[in-house]
Amino acid sequence: MAHKIAPSILAADFSNLQSACHIIENSAADWYHIDVMDGVFVPNISFGMPVIKAIKPHSTKTFDVHLMIVDPDRYIKDFKKVGADILTVHYEACNHLHRTLQAIKAEGMQAGVALNPHTPISLLVDVIKDIDIVCLMSVNPGFGGQSFIEQTYDKVHMLKEMIKEKGASTLIEIDGGVTDENARKLINAGADVLVAGSFVFKSENPIETCNKLKEI
Ligand code: DX5
Ligand code: ZN
Repeated sequence: MAHKIAPSILAADFSNLQSACHIIENSAADWYHIDVMDGVFVPNISFGMPVIKAIKPHSTKTFDVHLMIVDPDRYIKDFKKVGADILTVHYEACNHLHRTLQAIKAEGMQAGVALNPHTPISLLVDVIKDIDIVCLMSVNPGFGGQSFIEQTYDKVHMLKEMIKEKGASTLIEIDGGVTDENARKLINAGADVLVAGSFVFKSENPIETCNKLKEI
């Protein structure tokens, strides 16, 4: 399966989000990666439902919403309403992860689980078949523009093994510090989806950058 590219609009110009939509719609990018931060789970606040709702009419591609918030169960229905197609919660933010995954699927969305860099893959073994996407954080969540943590390659290998062993069809997404320098190695290790924020939106020609990442 060809890998997917998910530009993170966290790195886009917030005064002109229609331009970010234009870039994603007119490039080989597959998904919008949308980072929601609450200032509690992570030390930063980004944006929430009104912003997602505002960009939805300007888009045709999948909305991959990454919740970096505590107690995400409170808002599952609200994110569905504003247009989320994939809803990813953090393992570290859920006391009853299995229940949360079922609640996301009950709303007709795909269910994702994100792991912080310090969280071992092994913790997912009993729920892997219930997870559509595992988002491996390759930086500490909260900010764009950080450098890629090299340990991520080992985690991709381990996760791929677990998915195979369990006969799951879970996708592996990598989030943080993705560039044209690590993209190929990540795909070779087993990554299915690459999130890229700064590398796309801070580049001279973001459409071309998306296309290059897709072709890599
Ligand atoms: C970090 C976010 C990432 C971020 C990636 O907390 O989850 O999605 O936007 O940005 P870059 O690609 O700049 O590391
Ligand atoms: Zn993210």
